Amino acid sequence: MAGEKSWLFLSAVWAVSLLGANADLKFTIPVGKLFTYELMRETFQNDFQPLSILTGILYDDPMVFKCNLQHFPDLPEWLRLTQRHPYDNGFLYGTPTSPGKSIIEINAINKRTYETTNEKLIIQVIPEKTLPYHAEFFIKLREIEKVLPSPVQDEIKQDLQKLWKTEALEIVNITNALDRGGRVPFPLAGHYEGVYVKVGSEKYFSDCLQRVLTPIHQKQCKAGSKVKIPGGCSYCSIPSNCITWCKTKLFDFSMPEPSTPPPTMGPGILESGEDFDPPESPPGRDFLPDYLVTVIVPLILAIVLCILLAYIMCCRREGVEKRNAKTPEIQLYHHHTIHGNSNELRRMASGRGVPAPMSTLPMFNFRTGERASPLQSDSPRIPLIMAQHEPSIDTLPR
Ligand SMILES: *[C@@H]1O[C@H](CO)[C@@H](O)[C@H](O)[C@H]1NC(C)=O
Repeated sequence: MAGEKSWLFLSAVWAVSLLGANADLKFTIPVGKLFTYELMRETFQNDFQPLSILTGILYDDPMVFKCNLQHFPDLPEWLRLTQRHPYDNGFLYGTPTSPGKSIIEINAINKRTYETTNEKLIIQVIPEKTLPYHAEFFIKLREIEKVLPSPVQDEIKQDLQKLWKTEALEIVNITNALDRGGRVPFPLAGHYEGVYVKVGSEKYFSDCLQRVLTPIHQKQCKAGSKVKIPGGCSYCSIPSNCITWCKTKLFDFSMPEPSTPPPTMGPGILESGEDFDPPESPPGRDFLPDYLVTVIVPLILAIVLCILLAYIMCCRREGVEKRNAKTPEIQLYHHHTIHGNSNELRRMASGRGVPAPMSTLPMFNFRTGERASPLQSDSPRIPLIMAQHEPSIDTLPR
């Protein structure tokens, strides 16, 4: 396999050197393994300056890459392009999920001269058995572009090989945490986007990895406390490659998935070669009671209410017996009340001769019924408060 790959690579290099940089690059990759291709700015710079070999001057122009599937506007679903900055190399990466051939067009735009150049990548995906055990790790202190170069991939893989205690490990997928709902970090030193790395193996998970499945570990992670990992389990040769234990996930594909039972056929499925015989139309239905209930009854109710309201409005109004065709009704009513009020006032005025009730008079003793002169009761000898308590003694004349 490895020999075949390197042979392919060599043949690609040979093709490029023979035909110039515009020749197509061919790759044959298996399903379910990570594919990475670095878009080298240097190579494209050579395309922009074909005469640089003669002049000896090679610029370092900013350039951006645009990639798409041939005859399509975008890349295939499994392939992604990333380039952080016009002065950085770009990367095409992804994990094919189904076999087939894709032709990828790469367009480089020189941001200084606005020239463009293009390259074609022919990716042949061949089927392969998926590895039965997968594990996904989150590397917090990394960014996708820093992880995709193959030396870094190898570093990470070596650490994970030690953790898994097997050499037979393949990188299955590398994803930017931002593509998985991660947050854009602060633009400060020490803040990174984070990267998910998924690896697969034929061998079952090591004891260290199986810790992830224990309830104690899951409880610790849920509580957000610091997860204790025994010293023998933490392998990271470079601090930035250290994994976040709580985001580690294990996938076991060794068990064949229980196939879902085929749907049970219900009645009414037509035998092949038979004509469809529509059922008899249902018996006719009498809609008259429904009509009566929904239309006639509310209509009658509405008419009755209308008549009732009309009667109240026209025949039962106050002042309506004094109705005058020329006088507006409201004025009539007004006049009527003024009349009534003045009559009432007159009646009250004629009753003025009656003396006012005793209780409204000053210094009235409610027990004896005696009226004291205000001057007398104001005398300093009689305390005012006592006068209220013992009126029979205090108010007696001395
Ligand atoms: C790789 O990761 C990306 C992002 O999470 C996902 O869309 C894709 O399906 C994954 N590929 C495989 C083969 O697991």
